[in-house]
Amino acid sequence: MANSTSAQWERLKALAKPTLGELFAEGDRLAMLSDRFELEEGEGIRFDWSKTHLDAAHVEAFEALADAAGFAERRAALFAGDVVNPTEGRAAEHTAQRGVGRDESVAQAHQNHARMAAMVEAIHGGAMGEIAHLIHVGIGGSALGPALSVDALARADGDGGGALVDVHVVSNIDGCALEEAFAACDPAKTMLAVASKTFTTIETMTNAESVIVWLRENGVADAYGRVVALTASPEKAIEWGVDETRVLPFSESVGGRYSLWSSIGFPVAIALGWPDFAELLEGAAVMDRHFRDTDGLANLPLRAAFADQYYTRLRGCQTRAVFAYDERLALLPDYLQQLEMESNGKAVTFDGDPVDGPTAPITWGGVGTDAQHAVFQLLHQGTNLVPVDFIASILPGDDLAPEHHRILLSNCFAQGAALMAGQASDDPARAYPGDRPSATILLDALTPMSFGALIAFHEHRTFANAVLMEINPFDQFGVELGKSIAKQIEAGGTSFDASTEALLAEAGVV
Ligand code: F6P
Repeated sequence: MANSTSAQWERLKALAKPTLGELFAEGDRLAMLSDRFELEEGEGIRFDWSKTHLDAAHVEAFEALADAAGFAERRAALFAGDVVNPTEGRAAEHTAQRGVGRDESVAQAHQNHARMAAMVEAIHGGAMGEIAHLIHVGIGGSALGPALSVDALARADGDGGGALVDVHVVSNIDGCALEEAFAACDPAKTMLAVASKTFTTIETMTNAESVIVWLRENGVADAYGRVVALTASPEKAIEWGVDETRVLPFSESVGGRYSLWSSIGFPVAIALGWPDFAELLEGAAVMDRHFRDTDGLANLPLRAAFADQYYTRLRGCQTRAVFAYDERLALLPDYLQQLEMESNGKAVTFDGDPVDGPTAPITWGGVGTDAQHAVFQLLHQGTNLVPVDFIASILPGDDLAPEHHRILLSNCFAQGAALMAGQASDDPARAYPGDRPSATILLDALTPMSFGALIAFHEHRTFANAVLMEINPFDQFGVELGKSIAKQIEAGGTSFDASTEALLAEAGVV
């Protein structure tokens, strides 16, 4: 067995597994597993993990597992800016972007943010002429965070509101995505952000070239004058044609899927204004400090990781579902899919040995109440056990009659109660087995600050899961093979299997 935590896993596997009903009958679940996390002046978030199967015995055994896995040391290394990504020889300094980390990295992030803030304010002030639209091209971590954040925080509401600049995040190489953005933008008032850590990603570079062509064809003589580059490879951006003054750099030690807080967050700052972007960073920093300074079960991301591991490794759950009962968080599952699956979808440990249990489950989800009328049948009566996270905000995002929000929240809480309680019936088709777990994250309000804390919570939860499984969450070699075969196809001259050859020939790709 490869892991140094095998004995702890054996102990965990041997523990009795009481039902949720038994656990609620036994003790004060809320005192143990439901906490309010304070952000500032009365604003907070409730993290209720009481409807999971964590009991005192499992908690104790998971805490011992965390000790054996060196959780405290690995967490200290993360915040110290040490190499925590050994396969690439890199630190993972996304927290430094929020002001929590190695002093030099925090100072560097601060300097980069000052440059970014000045650029945002200059653009709002008219330095590029009238800018009404921003086309942001990027993919993966260079798109998902900006798309989610803008959608969550800069929606138009009943009073107008909305974004200061209309942002379109375009990731797909499929031209349909870019054409949709073109149709919504006035080229005379449009700027382009090219977001790529490496500044080599084929989808992003191809889309960026096409935006330049579109601007030129539509009367913008100095198309490159409308470009801002968001990258950890500034020299490549300059080589591509971006003026050095409009390159917003970030550090190589910030991973792609952890880069929202760096200059990759430029469209968020453009849409919301700098003060709100600064609040987003601060919300994440409050969560960073909690994660860094809290031990054992009281540490909320670590607590969530205990439950995640319980379901994945002790109950064989292959998926976990996330349902935001909030239209503004509709893109959250997409974001979490990259964060969790690209980070922890691994088969080897830090040392390159095979893992001795399953790693990241498949993250999926949607919005409530829509999902109730589509996929919840399986959650309630299907044969798969799926741990569910519900996320909701006490304050509504809309200005309609209060019944909208009341019905939304009632449904959210009803689902968690129903999954847990189940319902017996003489008719097997109408019986609900119950004992199905869920966790609830209840925001006082969806604000830049609570949103920042929510995303940072998930980053740390992902890291804590990786530590418990003894894997490196910061590399992603699994994405490379397909990319390199696509390049071989483009270049021609390589033969593939008969099926692939036939498909290429039929589609006229070669
Ligand atoms: O292919 C995966 C990936 O490397 C992600 O990890 C990353 O977020 C994305 O591609 C985009 O990379 P870049 O920001 O360098 O364009």
